[in-house]
Amino acid sequence: MKNKKNIAILASGNGSNFEAIVNKIKDGTLAVGKCILITDKKNALARKRAQKLQIKDIFIDPSQYKNRQTYDQKIIEVLEKEKIDAVVLAGYKRILSPFFVKRFENKILNIHPSLLPRFPGKNAIARAFNYGCKVAGITVHFVDEGVDQGPVIAQEVVPIKKNMSLKELEAEIHEKEHWLYPHILKFFLEDRIKIEGKHVKIA
Ligand code: GRF
Repeated sequence: MKNKKNIAILASGNGSNFEAIVNKIKDGTLAVGKCILITDKKNALARKRAQKLQIKDIFIDPSQYKNRQTYDQKIIEVLEKEKIDAVVLAGYKRILSPFFVKRFENKILNIHPSLLPRFPGKNAIARAFNYGCKVAGITVHFVDEGVDQGPVIAQEVVPIKKNMSLKELEAEIHEKEHWLYPHILKFFLEDRIKIEGKHVKIA
């Protein structure tokens, strides 16, 4: 097999997608050179998960940097020092600077809990639910300079059933995310994903 990729997962909060990916690395489904976690929140639950899973966890404190640019420069410095090939956003609540996106062009993945381009940004599940949509869903996409706008790699529909509560919908979406994200990441790690403009093909 070709050289395995080193990945950094960036997360700000709960970290359940981070844990789902690490579990698939540990059981041998995903082949990576190494995997590290980078967080921007000191008390992120993702950090506790990393410690439990024995994954290197690096907290970079945004309050120590003048602005988004200098903060992102620091992250890139760490990514380069760690020889990271690809970046996996998993509930990372900051928008990446254009030079960060350029530096890792087509090597940054994100998961978003809606069927993009509907409901980009915050509270996507609640917004779809409150709108009265009959389906919600999940998108895994490449990250470009826009917010939740990069080329779509995969989408999964989650029906909003009659009498379903928002909590139940959230639970179903998260459960599906934990399956979909590692599943798509595997294709990426195996270099089976090709981008042609806005179109993404999995070979
Ligand atoms: C997920 O719903 C993901 O789609 C969105 O942020 C949430 C992160 O959840 N980008 P977790 O921190 O992985 O539990």
